[in-house]
Amino acid sequence: MAITVCPVTPGFAAEIGDVDLSQPIAPSDFQAIRDAFASYAVLIFPDQHLSQDRHLDFARLFGPLETTIALHRKDAKLRVRKEFADVSNLDPDNEVWGKDSRQRLFQLGNRLWHTDSSFKRLPALASLLYARAIPPLGGHTEFADERAAYDALPEDTKRRLDTLVAEHSIFNSRARLGFSNFSDEERQGLPPVPQVLVRTLPDSGRKSLYLASHAGRIIGLPEQDGRALIDQLVAHATQRQFVYTHRWRLHDLVIWDNRCTVHRGTEFDDLRWKRDMQRATVSDIANTCEQAGIKVAAA
Ligand code: OGA
Ligand code: MN
Repeated sequence: MAITVCPVTPGFAAEIGDVDLSQPIAPSDFQAIRDAFASYAVLIFPDQHLSQDRHLDFARLFGPLETTIALHRKDAKLRVRKEFADVSNLDPDNEVWGKDSRQRLFQLGNRLWHTDSSFKRLPALASLLYARAIPPLGGHTEFADERAAYDALPEDTKRRLDTLVAEHSIFNSRARLGFSNFSDEERQGLPPVPQVLVRTLPDSGRKSLYLASHAGRIIGLPEQDGRALIDQLVAHATQRQFVYTHRWRLHDLVIWDNRCTVHRGTEFDDLRWKRDMQRATVSDIANTCEQAGIKVAAA
């Protein structure tokens, strides 16, 4: 039986039915999923029962997986296989984390609009987030369509942004939250990386803003001007008409295209309820400047 694609918003999010991801997928079904992924940027697969292995196998169909750099869980006992980003609020013993745990402070960054791993030279192409436990209230994920946000800009703004390159660093997003106690070793391990501000998507040819709370300086602009421009663009790009809010159901798998979306988690009582999510992350094929043929000095 062929898969079904049911739009949840006119051109941004769609629910995919009649597919069981716990089983190997027919090539024609996977092609239909890829096609849907190229026109919608957020795909929802409800009621999937996935082992960690099956989740990773499905993710690998989209490309090579990212190896997570989890600063806060260095040397820590892992709850999930090391290929995953653990997006839960749980400690290694599956208990809700402590109020002042480093893991909690670190994950507060997910509440800011971002696109995954834009602070890495090779950013994320797709993320596949699976809900293993959800809180009864809150803890949604909001997604904004950066293609629609780009399309809505005035023509002269588009032209001005088309050639700009921003510097992304995870320490920018954490600094916004007042979280700055990183060691020199941690800082040196993740130097700022250049990323274009406007991307052209290979599958659809559409253009998209490429923004994140990780973005700091814009190359060639005074520091303050660059930061003001980014703040203004994030405000533009996350207006309600561009946003889809995903209200999680248990066992949803949601895939998003990090090349043309930003997302953020919404608040919930994280010291009371368990929210257990695991994320597989697919790497992009090259740094965004390299993909655009823009030469920038190595960071
Ligand atoms: C992520 C993320 C937000 C959330 O998994 O990359 O930002 O709602 N998650 O858990
Ligand atoms: Mn994220």
